[in-house]
Amino acid sequence: MGIDLTGRTAFVSGSTQGIGLAIARRLAEAGARVAVNGRTAERVEEALTSLVAAGIAPELLLAAPGDVTTDEGLQTALDASGEVEILVNNLGIFGAAQALEVTDAEWQRYWDVNVMSAVRLIRATLPQMKEAGWGRVLNIASDSAIVTPAEMIHYGVSKTALLAVSRGFAKDAAGTGVTVNSVIAGPTYTEGVQDFVYQLVDPQLPWAEAEAEFMRLYRPQSLVQRLIRPEEIANMVVYLSSPLASATTGGALRVDGGYTDAILP
Ligand SMILES: NC(=O)c1ccc[n+]([C@@H]2O[C@H](COP(=O)([O-])OP(=O)(O)OC[C@H]3O[C@@H](n4cnc5c(N)ncnc54)[C@H](OP(=O)(O)O)[C@@H]3O)[C@@H](O)[C@H]2O)c1
Repeated sequence: MGIDLTGRTAFVSGSTQGIGLAIARRLAEAGARVAVNGRTAERVEEALTSLVAAGIAPELLLAAPGDVTTDEGLQTALDASGEVEILVNNLGIFGAAQALEVTDAEWQRYWDVNVMSAVRLIRATLPQMKEAGWGRVLNIASDSAIVTPAEMIHYGVSKTALLAVSRGFAKDAAGTGVTVNSVIAGPTYTEGVQDFVYQLVDPQLPWAEAEAEFMRLYRPQSLVQRLIRPEEIANMVVYLSSPLASATTGGALRVDGGYTDAILP
């Protein structure tokens, strides 16, 4: 079962590092043309350079800088991408905070970045996918969407909402050849998560020990007992982006290392 996305154009929000960058790379390795997004042209150029150094053909890469939490930034990014057939809403912010100390403004920021950036990108690209009779929307959610960690309730709630966003827009796209799904990523080794881990464990610990301590104290239910690698999330995204996944829509698929102690989703 080969996956060939040649001729397809993908947009990956927040793809200058971490899971987004791995998704961009894997999609391009499968032949898709990929628009790489981050807030600044400099960071996007750095990401493109790293992808070319990793063997990706430059003609498969599009620079699509822009802050997708603003109307102007979102439009600039999409204008640079051309017609998007595979939308990956990867952008998401996270951080630990005492539940009772999270302000209204912070709740609102998580909602705007983690939920509304996805909704607005879907609104901007889904009509043309439906018109064309083919498309893929993938929303990168989190185990926190279904376990609501005490140290990041505001984040968990935003990711729970994203599951509903996926289910709802899948219904909107019913019968059109467009699928909409969530990917539930578990604790994954990225630059962003490294900062997060050091908020919770002794910042003097070398990284390998900090990772082990974090998993032992905060994610003991993980069945793989390690942080997931970004490529492991990206592999699921590439499969769901492919024609092979044409009967999978409106769902949430887990790449969480078995962390969520549940049979479903
Ligand atoms: N890492 C984990 O353990 C984990 C677990 C479950 C789910 N997730 C989810 O997976 C996704 C990616 O996580 P990650 O750890 O890879 O994130 P990360 O390392 O923090 O990277 C975030 C990316 O988003 C970009 N970005 C931030 N604000 C932006 C904006 N307003 N407009 C456009 N781009 C923006 C950043 O690029 P610039 O700085 O260049 O703008 C960067 O490329 C998130 O949705 C996260 O919630 C992560």
